[in-house]
Amino acid sequence: MQSKPLYCTKQGRAFVGDALTLLTELPDESIDLVMTSPPFALRRQKSYGNVEETEYVKWITPFSKDVFRVLKRSGSFVLDLGGAYRAGIPSRSLYNFRVLLTLCDDVGFHLAEDFYWFNPAKLPSPIEWVNKRKIRAKDSVNTVWWFGKTDTPKADVRKVLAPYSERMKKLIQNPDSFYKPKKRPSGHDISANFGKDNGGAIPSNLLTIPNTDSNSSYLWLCKELERQRHPARFPAELPAFFIKMLTDEADVVLDIFGGSNTTGFAAEALRRKWLTFEQDKESLVSSAFRFLEGRSMESVRRILGELQADNACVVLDDIVCSLGSEKKAKTSRDALDGMTSDVRQMVLLEERKTYKTQQDKSSVCR
Ligand SMILES: C[S@@+](CC[C@H](N)C(=O)[O-])C[C@H]1O[C@@H](n2cnc3c(N)ncnc32)[C@H](O)[C@@H]1O
Repeated sequence: MQSKPLYCTKQGRAFVGDALTLLTELPDESIDLVMTSPPFALRRQKSYGNVEETEYVKWITPFSKDVFRVLKRSGSFVLDLGGAYRAGIPSRSLYNFRVLLTLCDDVGFHLAEDFYWFNPAKLPSPIEWVNKRKIRAKDSVNTVWWFGKTDTPKADVRKVLAPYSERMKKLIQNPDSFYKPKKRPSGHDISANFGKDNGGAIPSNLLTIPNTDSNSSYLWLCKELERQRHPARFPAELPAFFIKMLTDEADVVLDIFGGSNTTGFAAEALRRKWLTFEQDKESLVSSAFRFLEGRSMESVRRILGELQADNACVVLDDIVCSLGSEKKAKTSRDALDGMTSDVRQMVLLEERKTYKTQQDKSSVCR
């Protein structure tokens, strides 16, 4: 790309600017996955800008056309869209379904599969219909459209197997006591292979991921340095699921509405190359905190100063980046700063494991 990134890591680059302009700098068929969550068509205006639901399809179509151009033929476009109500009435907007139809009918995408992200931690809204009048249920599911550039995008669900249920684990241990291979009335042929251990269950298209991160280095550093946290982040597990399923290591993942760069963080942790575009410089400056886990406050402050300079182009090296139950390091940040990245990674992973075991135990006690 001709533009200079605001910062880069070993795997990726984050650019400030309008995605429509930045997309033109990318060659045709150069990207494996575009994973993104644009501003939704919300009634209440957010600080990062929202488009009216009636204008939404017109607004998003030019971005989608360029996404189609830059995707490889094996590539995918995953679009997370929250639902919305129409102005002043308890009737749902169809904007996310109109986007789906337009991208397939006019832009040329193929709907590979419709996914639904269930966030059990979502607060009830809109207040008028749900809390006050109590005439609508809580809306806690986003539609996540998975488009292919062709009808056979690269994908492998074996990379995202879900844990087996307790019942399935018992069945695998002793299949004969659970079922006899036979044809079901539904026509399904339940063969002897049904009891085979494949290392996990095929995931469903309903992804249950609570959006409850409260301990990541991003949130912690935003608080310490009194910087605004991005108000519309998705949890890293959401892009991580699609990155794992739809790409291989060293493939290129792009987020055109990067926000706090959750996608770049997940891609870095999964050893994919990544690019992020975000028009708001302040959001992108803070997003660098995702890659500064384990550093002393002194070095974080120094890097923040560099990022805020005009024409900044900061190289973040020696970073520690892994998915999982992130938490503020107990080990002093100064002590971690003196370690090599491998040792730091080990110390932080060990702390997370201990923390997770403590959490698991305390939830059992409750
Ligand atoms: C819903 S947020 C994305 C949040 C992100 N998924 C995360 O986890 O932090 C949408 C972002 O798109 C950005 N945005 C809106 N229009 C844009 C444009 N034309 N080019 C680049 N970024 C844009 C907004 O500033 C906002 O930060």
